[in-house]
Amino acid sequence: MGGSSCCNGSKVLRAAASRIVRGNTMSHGQSPRPATARKSSDLKGTVRIPGDKSISHRSFMFGGLASGETRITGLLEGEDVINTGKAMQAMGARIRKEGDTWIINGVGNGALLAPEAPLDFGNAGTGCRLTMGLVGVYDFDSTFIGDASLSKRPMGRVLDPLRQMGVQVKSAEGDRLPVTLHGPQTPNPITYRVPMASAQVKSAVLLAGLNTPGITTVIEPVMTRDHTEKMLQGFGADLSVETDPQGVRTIRLEGRGKLTGQVIDVPGDPSSTSFPLVAALIVPGSDITILNVLMNPTRTGLILTLQEMGADIEVMNKRLAGGEDVADLRVRYSELKGVTVPEERAPSMIDEYPVLAVTAAFAEGATVMHGLDELRVKESDRLSAVADGLKLNGVDCDEGEASLVVRGRPGGKGLGNASGETVRTHLDHRIAMSFLVMGLASEHPVTVDDATMIATSFPEFMGLMTGLGAKIEQAEIRAA
Ligand code: S3P
Repeated sequence: MGGSSCCNGSKVLRAAASRIVRGNTMSHGQSPRPATARKSSDLKGTVRIPGDKSISHRSFMFGGLASGETRITGLLEGEDVINTGKAMQAMGARIRKEGDTWIINGVGNGALLAPEAPLDFGNAGTGCRLTMGLVGVYDFDSTFIGDASLSKRPMGRVLDPLRQMGVQVKSAEGDRLPVTLHGPQTPNPITYRVPMASAQVKSAVLLAGLNTPGITTVIEPVMTRDHTEKMLQGFGADLSVETDPQGVRTIRLEGRGKLTGQVIDVPGDPSSTSFPLVAALIVPGSDITILNVLMNPTRTGLILTLQEMGADIEVMNKRLAGGEDVADLRVRYSELKGVTVPEERAPSMIDEYPVLAVTAAFAEGATVMHGLDELRVKESDRLSAVADGLKLNGVDCDEGEASLVVRGRPGGKGLGNASGETVRTHLDHRIAMSFLVMGLASEHPVTVDDATMIATSFPEFMGLMTGLGAKIEQAEIRAA
């Protein structure tokens, strides 16, 4: 992760954004840039995956809110996270970078400033929904906008509990962006049972609770990623979690307490890890090592599933770093067999179904995935985007309302698209990366219609993959 030695807040975030632009081009306002992946062999090498996106967003948010200084290393400098940094800056946080360390001087809990312009979250659901909770309960206007993908995604899941807390909402039809929020003088602390498995909704309510007097309670019937709870406790919030024998979690947060700046080292993103990991499993002769991967159990469902499919994944050097489980992974090419993925595992691998579906295309027999309703409301309708892309590339699969069945073809004979037809990515980074991984083990090339939006979560993807020996080429940028 490059970086100037030191510069002021606006400049450093702009510089980070422009490094992303130079590295990979921006995902919006620019022409799409197709990319093609071809059959490769023997992926080899050791790589370090950029920081976890969920933890990076929260590091900027909580650092920007807490009193005093927060120092962050390993931050993911993807477009999504940079947009969160800009939003925090627009609400009073001071952000700069010295060497590899981001340094934030926060405003203090309850002291965010009214943003003068709409907050633009680009492609990022997490940045947008969490910030709606964080600032929506303040007694001033805050406006949220985003790109074409984010503007189609449902915001009602966050706006409904905020309305219960007393927030006035002005939004486009169907609770879509653009949205303007105005909090009451004194927000109501609520008890909210999260109706779908969503860490974003849980987090938005808890973050709204930070500026609400009394105790805000979130009941989470199915556990989702717990970074908000863990990190808020780390920043000094009075937050407790109780889990009943059925696994239902009750999270209580005392509002209006003090948060204090922290030192954070962000571990590698397990979701980004999944792309080189799966590539090594399906490309014959591969043997790679991936360093410093977050192994929080709410994020490791894919690794478990791949191991059940027969994947050779060695988990090495398990350790604790900043309160999180971290390990290095050695991954070797493996002959895989199809499995049925237990439905209750979905929250711990929700972002990994596209790449699992690609893996399944190279496994012996059928892989059956149920409980995928939430995939329909991600950066794209991932269920149909995956099924369409698989079919275009010769894979036998069935898309159900909330399920996907993929029948694999070990060796990838006949897979890919000999006539160069492109997979439609719908501005979805994980669809683009999943299908590029598919092309590495398919008989024919696989082409995606656009790879620019990969920079939202994994700007280093192309360089890292080609460094391992993957044959991926991006089309030249066409002159305007
Ligand atoms: C995230 C939660 C998940 C996940 C997203 C990141 C988070 O979204 O898909 O990539 O950091 O809280 P949902 O809450 O919609 O499941």
